[in-house]
Amino acid sequence: MKTYLLILGRHPELSRAELRGKLDEVFYDEEKNLLLGKNLVFTNPRDLPRGEEQLFIDQLGGTIRMAEVVGEFFDKTKLQEAIWKRIESAEKFKCGFTVFGGGKKLLTDLIFSTKSHFKKIRVENYNQENLSSGQIFQRRILQKGHEFIIWKRGESYLLCETVANQNLRNYELRDRKKDFRDAKMGMLPPKLAQILLNLAVEGVRTKFEPSSNSITVLDPFCGSGTVNIEAAIAGFKTIGSDVNERFVGKASENFAQMAEKFRYEKTSGEFRVANAKLCLKESDPVVVVATEGWLGENFEARPDRETIHKNAGEVLDLWRQVLDHLTNNKVSVIAGCLPAWNRAGSKQTVSEKFFLHADRLGYAPVLFSDGKPSTYYERENAFVAREVFVLRPKA
Ligand SMILES: C[S@@+](CC[C@H](N)C(=O)[O-])C[C@H]1O[C@@H](n2cnc3c(N)ncnc32)[C@H](O)[C@@H]1O
Repeated sequence: MKTYLLILGRHPELSRAELRGKLDEVFYDEEKNLLLGKNLVFTNPRDLPRGEEQLFIDQLGGTIRMAEVVGEFFDKTKLQEAIWKRIESAEKFKCGFTVFGGGKKLLTDLIFSTKSHFKKIRVENYNQENLSSGQIFQRRILQKGHEFIIWKRGESYLLCETVANQNLRNYELRDRKKDFRDAKMGMLPPKLAQILLNLAVEGVRTKFEPSSNSITVLDPFCGSGTVNIEAAIAGFKTIGSDVNERFVGKASENFAQMAEKFRYEKTSGEFRVANAKLCLKESDPVVVVATEGWLGENFEARPDRETIHKNAGEVLDLWRQVLDHLTNNKVSVIAGCLPAWNRAGSKQTVSEKFFLHADRLGYAPVLFSDGKPSTYYERENAFVAREVFVLRPKA
């Protein structure tokens, strides 16, 4: 059975949460943000002609790179021999290294010894620095050669060979290259949309049916349709609704644009103008909800205490009514975001009152691996952070 090393993204709690049900964690190193996992569940919902490991990473918003564990060595010479054997076995001429825990010396030793051993090999660590996933992607190192990740823990060298990397071009296509984007509405990064989607469908796939065709993903605050696009790429049917008629039209156009690029059926998405409090119809299929939600006003300057207070009240009031509506319609999972305003080193949040309301409706938050009911996704200098949660019916 293969074991894999995963380099996680900037929000480890989210990265780990979206991996639930997709692998068994063997070990997680908090400081290095590296995860060892086995028993990976590989799926190919749209029968794409792509390797299973690349497909696995393509379905994740929070994992940057994935390597297969080759072996553990307690001697540097044996480690080097194992690396050279793998290089010799294929006629590829690029090679790169990423080292965790061994310091600069281990990295430079590997670079120089490999350079002198293989005259034809081009070692891609130009400045004797670890390789980034962006460099690996842009220089096509996995297609034209090898990248090795060496994780030194105590006396042990864990040798891994990278098998899949985030496809940056595809993210760019569905982010900056989307026909309609609106800075005022806020920009949901496709990676976060993917994470929300994975949090929403986790467990539901196996509970209802192994095929994803039976699950419909609803975003009741769809804006430009980012979540709907991710849902369709992952092979789900999807409904997008928003109170703003113009956005609904644009979401539908974006969805069609991406259907051509990512080859999913345009008909897998339905868009409607509706207030989130009343967005579901009796004739709708069973849905799970994945949404960024409404984060209150989009501020251009840091809001004062009073403005935050007013926004918090409005968001909470809306979400309470939306929860009433969704739970009345037997929605089984709700993965979403609530706003959290950064203020003088602390955060003003609405989640506590929101969870109390959910509790009254028979729903409870799914805990993250740190035991907390929510986790933050934030960007530097943003006035409003997103507090991510997942609600399920109480057991
Ligand atoms: C933060 S934006 C969502 C952006 C979206 N995730 C995207 O990919 O573009 C919030 C959205 O909620 C919508 N909205 C606000 N109040 C609403 C309500 N009561 N019902 C439905 N949509 C609402 C806004 O029109 C806006 O499009």
